[in-house]
Amino acid sequence: MTVEPGFIGQITLDGPSGTGKSSVARDVARRLAAAYLDTGAMYRAATVAVLDAGVSLDDKIAVARAVSQAAIRVGTNARRELVTVDGVDVRERIRGAEVTRAVSPVSAVPAVRRLLVARQRELVREAEAVVVEGRDIGTVVLPEATLKIYLTAAPEVRAQRRAGQLGVTDPDKIAALAADLRRRDEYDSRRADSPLRPAEDAVVVDSTDLDKNAVVARIVDLARSAVGVGEGR
Ligand code: DC
Repeated sequence: MTVEPGFIGQITLDGPSGTGKSSVARDVARRLAAAYLDTGAMYRAATVAVLDAGVSLDDKIAVARAVSQAAIRVGTNARRELVTVDGVDVRERIRGAEVTRAVSPVSAVPAVRRLLVARQRELVREAEAVVVEGRDIGTVVLPEATLKIYLTAAPEVRAQRRAGQLGVTDPDKIAALAADLRRRDEYDSRRADSPLRPAEDAVVVDSTDLDKNAVVARIVDLARSAVGVGEGR
């Protein structure tokens, strides 16, 4: 059955890195004929702008200025990824080590978050139905969303999955990936502005023992039930 896009509204998908959140979110959006917004890609594109401006990551004012002066575009089509900074395609660069190392401090700057959250809400308003993926979407960006999911998994499993994506088999390197995931989670959960945590009304989905298709099927079911329950609202 295809659900009418207009009824789905907003689905938020938050959680730490390495849970398979992006591919789950994209698949859910496709199944529901909804738009898809990867807010992590926005913070990563903002980080490209900061790195290219050559400013110190400790200088919050300069970091925010670099982000506000860059033209950052992130598409909302679940079938076609679009991420540009000042017209340059940065889809590959935003996944690289340089950006991954710098993105936590950039995304902890409140002025950067204000800019990007405003842009996220604009993009969401343009879509009738949308799946939005990030860390603070259910808690801060879209507190009135139809359905909020918090996707999590054991850190070792997340490190294994990341290693698989990168083709890494060396146990020391996998341990280093796990340490990096923990470091980023801790940083993202402890920051003062919009820390990573489940919204009170979020459904927590633990994917430690579930494959991607099972997670997608569960979220699509939850979305359909939420629409049924929410009809009278
Ligand atoms: O999901 P990701 O790994 O692409 O996210 C990159 C970084 O951006 C991550 O370290 C946390 C940050 N982020 C955030 O602070 N708020 C969001 N809504 C999305 C991502």
